[in-house]
Amino acid sequence: MGEQDYRTVNRANWDERAPAHAASPDYAVDRLVADPTALSDVVAFDLPRLGDVSGLRGVHLQCHIGTDTLSLSRLGARMSGLDFSAPALAQARTLAVRAGADIDFVEGEVYDAVDLLGRGGFDLVFTGVGALCWLPRIDLWAAVVADLLRPGGRLFLREGHPMLWTLDVPRTDDLLIVTDPYFETLAPAVYDEGGTYVATDTVFEHNVTHTWNHGLGEIVTALLDNSMVITGLEEHDSVPWVAVDGQMEPVGGGEYRLVDRPERLPVSYTLRAVKT
Ligand SMILES: C[S@@+](CC[C@H](N)C(=O)[O-])C[C@H]1O[C@@H](n2cnc3c(N)ncnc32)[C@H](O)[C@@H]1O
Repeated sequence: MGEQDYRTVNRANWDERAPAHAASPDYAVDRLVADPTALSDVVAFDLPRLGDVSGLRGVHLQCHIGTDTLSLSRLGARMSGLDFSAPALAQARTLAVRAGADIDFVEGEVYDAVDLLGRGGFDLVFTGVGALCWLPRIDLWAAVVADLLRPGGRLFLREGHPMLWTLDVPRTDDLLIVTDPYFETLAPAVYDEGGTYVATDTVFEHNVTHTWNHGLGEIVTALLDNSMVITGLEEHDSVPWVAVDGQMEPVGGGEYRLVDRPERLPVSYTLRAVKT
């Protein structure tokens, strides 16, 4: 499978979903526009961990339709957003204009981010919630993050937990069964699934995806190998979408938790790291 192939396949999937996501009540775009103090649920969840971002030069990698990017801008960071989906960026730019925010959205591949955005110019790299699984190599991603940051700059990452991505879903019983790789593999997991992770009536045509898992140790090691020091790593029993169909309940703030013994499984994590 050549590199171009996975990018082309995945981009078609995202291009089609971006407008439906922007129109979905779950992304709450209208709430963000109507209330100039509102934050996305994802950024609000991590506010206690985020620290002061005001005045920071920040970049949001894989920014999608820009709801988290706008939230960081509202907290005072001077934000850029990067994504390879032109339709996603069109939604992000419209949101920024409607919200009166000055955000620079750049179209491109994550692995090309340093060429597109410059080396060492950022105080903050923010990313996550369904971002890393689209990338075949976590070591190359960590190098991009480190190269974007100035010394002393920091990474803030909230992601679905790699154990979550190993599960056999959906199931008709309430068991948690591991079927998919935990560690990074050369070959992608190839899925052909309609639908998406937010409420929408849109019927999609481009449903094939190529994704990769990356173990928590692989992610931490990749960052350590690229001059990053880990300053925080917290595993959570909730995740900001219904990740295990039929087995999760809303717990407020857009988060979902396993109904039965949520202490069995970390389903997301927040990682913080600083470039030395
Ligand atoms: C699940 S979304 C990120 C979600 C984001 N946390 C949010 O909810 O707004 C994943 C994003 O990654 C982007 N993406 C996937 N692979 C990419 C790549 N190789 N380079 C740049 N963007 C990519 C997709 O276009 C999509 O917008």
